[in-house]
Amino acid sequence: MENKKQSSPEEVSELESPYFEFQAYLGITKHMGGLKATKELIELCHINKGKYVLVVGCSVGVTPCYLAKRYGCRVVGVDIYERMIDRSNERVKREGVEDRVEFRVADAQNLPFENALFDAVICESVNAFVEDKQRAVSEYVRVTKPGGYVGLNECTWIKAPPPTELVEYLSRISGVKEILTSDGWQELLEGSGLRETVARIYKTNALSQWINEVRQTEFLDFLRAWYRFLFLFIKSSACRKFTKEALTMPKSIFGLFKYFGYGIYVGRK
Ligand SMILES: C[S@@+](CC[C@H](N)C(=O)[O-])C[C@H]1O[C@@H](n2cnc3c(N)ncnc32)[C@H](O)[C@@H]1O
Repeated sequence: MENKKQSSPEEVSELESPYFEFQAYLGITKHMGGLKATKELIELCHINKGKYVLVVGCSVGVTPCYLAKRYGCRVVGVDIYERMIDRSNERVKREGVEDRVEFRVADAQNLPFENALFDAVICESVNAFVEDKQRAVSEYVRVTKPGGYVGLNECTWIKAPPPTELVEYLSRISGVKEILTSDGWQELLEGSGLRETVARIYKTNALSQWINEVRQTEFLDFLRAWYRFLFLFIKSSACRKFTKEALTMPKSIFGLFKYFGYGIYVGRK
């Protein structure tokens, strides 16, 4: 897959994933479980002061900056969308951690790093969007030092199979390629040679997911995102079209959280 170029707000509906183009434009993204899940992933990957960490699918740079500020890590963040990396670079300056955090545009399936470079590689809500998941996880393992950790927080079907119309809706709106069951995610880690694997599966609901997202987003980011959304909504027909499509949900959306949760999956190299 080629790295995705940045686009103007008017062009986003023509792209493979208008969902991410809009998120990048607004300057906010999310993952299941919010900050609580991030802390759990960090702990399970034994990340602490001085560790060198790769964050794949870092989007607007929230977790890389958090790792540098709270844990004193050196961090590289990569994302396939150039506009996400632009937002990450803005954030790293705002938060004053340029000396410890850098960002690059890169595809999870083809990482531009030498072997055995990082103490840990983490991804939060990324691999469901990746075409060749096994190849991506093999890349995470390749760039991790022996004894280091690979950790994923991924959307998970906790009851399968989910209704087809629900799968189609999520794929159409968010560009998600495939969400796996917990067995599927674990097999990916084990199939790449990771050992001592841990899987923790969580059910959630719309309210607690929303609360987690709001808690993780700084107030100013939240205000800025709403301001940008209103501006975009007025200015861009692509934004209005996307919003309308996103709000045209199948009936099964009300049962979403019967099927849909998340899991934290970690293995050691
Ligand atoms: C749902 S967002 C999650 C973002 C972020 N990890 C967070 O927790 O807020 C998924 C991110 O993965 C990125 N992404 C999708 N496919 C990718 C790939 N093949 N390589 C690198 N990044 C990818 C998207 O651009 C987006 O920023």
